[in-house]
Amino acid sequence: MPHRPAPTPRSRFRRMRSSPARRAMVRENRLSPADFIWPVFVQEGTDTETPVASMPGVARLSIDRLVTAAREAAALGIPAICLFPHVEQALKTEDCADAWSADNLVNRAIRAIKSQLPDLTVMTDVALDPYNVNGHDGFVVDGRIVNDETVAALVRMAVAQAEAGADIIGPSDMMDGRIGAIRDALEAAGHGDVAIMSYSAKYASAFYGPFRDAVGAAGALTGDKNTYQMDPANSDEALRLVMRDLDEGADMVMVKPGMPYLDIARRVKSELGVPTFAYQVSGEYAMLAGAAERGWLDGDKVMLESLLAFRRAGCDGILTYFAPAAARLLAG
Ligand code: PBG
Repeated sequence: MPHRPAPTPRSRFRRMRSSPARRAMVRENRLSPADFIWPVFVQEGTDTETPVASMPGVARLSIDRLVTAAREAAALGIPAICLFPHVEQALKTEDCADAWSADNLVNRAIRAIKSQLPDLTVMTDVALDPYNVNGHDGFVVDGRIVNDETVAALVRMAVAQAEAGADIIGPSDMMDGRIGAIRDALEAAGHGDVAIMSYSAKYASAFYGPFRDAVGAAGALTGDKNTYQMDPANSDEALRLVMRDLDEGADMVMVKPGMPYLDIARRVKSELGVPTFAYQVSGEYAMLAGAAERGWLDGDKVMLESLLAFRRAGCDGILTYFAPAAARLLAG
């Protein structure tokens, strides 16, 4: 329990706010580039990039440009990046076979980064949506998203990413049982050191809209993801999912989206005390960057304030498209 303050004037909270030095002395939370994981979109091609219209300042990068950007991120003190592929339309199929192809875009990108920047941590996304003609994270059979068949495919996908050199596997699909299945398969394939960050509390959110544009899944998606992603009304369920995924072998857990769900991050950290991450998703980025572009908000200030809020809520780290810009600001 916080100490009950004496009545004013014995207590005057403004005393410790009266100068930058005093404020620094009693500051409870700080932001550092080490807190960031940078999500990056990768596309085919050489020396090319494509701006994402709904995410001002974000572009999909060809692998060579991705390596350059990753080098800059590492130099800024960002420890990890997370890769998301823009899969060519011709490779999107019902059986999603490109998802576990050893030479798919993501796996080539992992190899390129790890060969040049072995110390940078590379995280991947495990879900079928970029590879699926109908934009869903799982196989669709007779209009339903099937669980166990999807898990078997996710396992193949995760192992292929580990073989390519991924350090952290990030299952974002919300199928039941995938963490345990992936953990067992990684162990069996000799990848005991590859970690899992589970998107445990991933909500069925409209804040993912710009992301689906970025990876070219928006047009493809038929229906919604409500049968596998969480109901935004729920909170206790998030804790049960986190506990379930930890029991199955998750090393870290994530809450997603971020800012509208900080209460969930705080509950996970306070009640379970586990490595807790949050994803400041594409729609959150679009709100802040879009308003800043119009001069309606101070972009730099809202960026840092929004990121600090995750630390205050108990997050150990934040996936954020602002990572390089924020790291640059923090470096002064
Ligand atoms: C795919 C995936 C999504 C995001 C990360 N992985 C979209 C979705 O679930 O539809 C969203 C990220 C963002 O909005 O920034 N499974």
